[in-house]
Amino acid sequence: MYRTHTCGELRKENIGQKTTLCGWVQLKRDKGGMIWIDLRDRYGITQLAAEEVKTDKKIIEIIDKIGREHVIQVTGEVIERYSKNDKIPTGDIEIKIEDIKILSESETPPFTIIDNTDGGDELRMKYRYLDIRRNPVKNALMLRHRVAQEVRKYLDAQNFVEVETPVLIKSTPEGARDFVVPSRMNPGEFYALPQSPQTFKQLLMIAGMDRYFQIVKCFRDEDLRADRQPEFTQIDCEMSFVEQNDILATFEGMTKFLFKTVKGLDINYDFPHMPYSEAMEKYGNDKPDIRFGMTITDITENVQGKDFVVFDSADYIGGICLENGSEYSRKQIDELTEFVKIPQIGAKGLVYCKYNVDGSFKSSVDKFYNESDWAIIAEKMNAQKGDLILILAGEKERTLHGLSELRLKLGNELGLRPKDTFAPLWVVEFPLLEFDSESGRYHAKHHPFTAPFDEDIHLFETDPSKIRAKAYDLVINGVEIGGGSIRIFDKDLQALMFKNLGFSKEEAEAQFGFLMNAFKFGAPPHGGIALGFDRLVSLFGGSDSIRDYIAFPKNNAGRDVMIESPSQISQAQLDELGLIVKEVE
Ligand code: AMO
Repeated sequence: MYRTHTCGELRKENIGQKTTLCGWVQLKRDKGGMIWIDLRDRYGITQLAAEEVKTDKKIIEIIDKIGREHVIQVTGEVIERYSKNDKIPTGDIEIKIEDIKILSESETPPFTIIDNTDGGDELRMKYRYLDIRRNPVKNALMLRHRVAQEVRKYLDAQNFVEVETPVLIKSTPEGARDFVVPSRMNPGEFYALPQSPQTFKQLLMIAGMDRYFQIVKCFRDEDLRADRQPEFTQIDCEMSFVEQNDILATFEGMTKFLFKTVKGLDINYDFPHMPYSEAMEKYGNDKPDIRFGMTITDITENVQGKDFVVFDSADYIGGICLENGSEYSRKQIDELTEFVKIPQIGAKGLVYCKYNVDGSFKSSVDKFYNESDWAIIAEKMNAQKGDLILILAGEKERTLHGLSELRLKLGNELGLRPKDTFAPLWVVEFPLLEFDSESGRYHAKHHPFTAPFDEDIHLFETDPSKIRAKAYDLVINGVEIGGGSIRIFDKDLQALMFKNLGFSKEEAEAQFGFLMNAFKFGAPPHGGIALGFDRLVSLFGGSDSIRDYIAFPKNNAGRDVMIESPSQISQAQLDELGLIVKEVE
């Protein structure tokens, strides 16, 4: 037996017991004839002690050889500590070393294994196994584990069955690029890794499984961000004989259950439902952070026709109102102006108007707008004395995006987005289709299996962009946590959808023939959702970066710097697969 207890277990009650512990050496201190070692494992830290004169010489010799991160085994009596440490649960006791063994030596680690380490990001990733020894990373993985267990508990109790679906498949239409895998046995042919198990979970409904879930890896070759990894995990679910509200109720229930069991928080209200159009108009994006106001007002009709060319030539003019912002200095406003000019936002400038406490107005465009013009605008925006009005103008979508980014920036700066306050909502009534001017065709906003509103089907013939979808996103604190839809289960409607997406009959057949074929054999009405598991865990953990909650994540270039992947393969492997690698610039 290697150990009788873990390093996080022993308390006052154990005093007098003989114990054997194993772990890593966090720290060794030698002070005036006393030696202390902090021994660490996943469960905690226990202090070991040896008084030099009273300890066997052989043991002291071994202790002398012990360095940081050595793995050791120690036997001794649990004794009361002279100076207690109330910062750790084992702080009342220590182990009087009676026997000690080095199980494994360690080189000096490239960074110190402490909570606030000196290791930069790249170094920590290269030695991720050392990084995971640190509390913040270890705790993140423990949190992830807890959430996964609670998800399974909830869904199992709701009759969901966990079914695994294959990883070597065919392209799934989630809108990103596929990762592909060449097939040796079928030269010149490729598998695609699933962007999601979408088609399989629908097939499981046709197969009569009724309620499916899977905590599953998905793969998408897209530009990476703090909340995006090329391989990430979904809590993927599908249900039969349901309408949209059944699904929302089930997963609102799961979200509340998780908040309660993982965070200890009661959410005892119904999540608000916000139509996509309202989210776009008021918040400038489809994942609104509703923890704070500062919503966007369309003031196009209130500001045009006053000879201010910038506004007169704009497609859309919108503003947000910063409470108590009239005291903002020139410098602060200049900073905001610089911010809206960054390429990701691309505004030409920022117009402002101070609604002073004395009721007067002072704007950056006083040449064109007088006090009574501003009074009208202020009223429309519901501005109060002391506020600062910030205005952007231009092409509508871009301008709304700019206002959204400005709002979020101000929200961050003013502390309106605290990590421990949560505001979940459902965004509903997404458009079914999105026109892509580059390719000159419609794309599915969610995916091609999403059902349209029944009363909107006729619009396929007249104005497809106006068709609303039975699709929904779960949004919490400005993060898209999940998304799903009611599916088309009628093969003719599915064919119409493919046609509108510009697929020829043959193309649709080649890509989704298996699903269309399955629809011929009795498809139940069904729908589902997938929650981004990494995003959910990082929301609970209070970090914006999902990498902190993934054991072995990739960096922003999609590389795993620890295993050095991706990497080239041998000529023999290429030959076997019938592949020739072209020089890529
Ligand atoms: P969707 O594409 O919206 O839906 O994905 C569901 C959720 O997965 C998370 N997510 C990601 N997380 C980390 N890195 C990524 N690259 C990434 N991409 C997506 C998001 C998102 O809300 N098959 C449908 C679901 C359905 O219709 O049932 C789907 O995959 O949190």
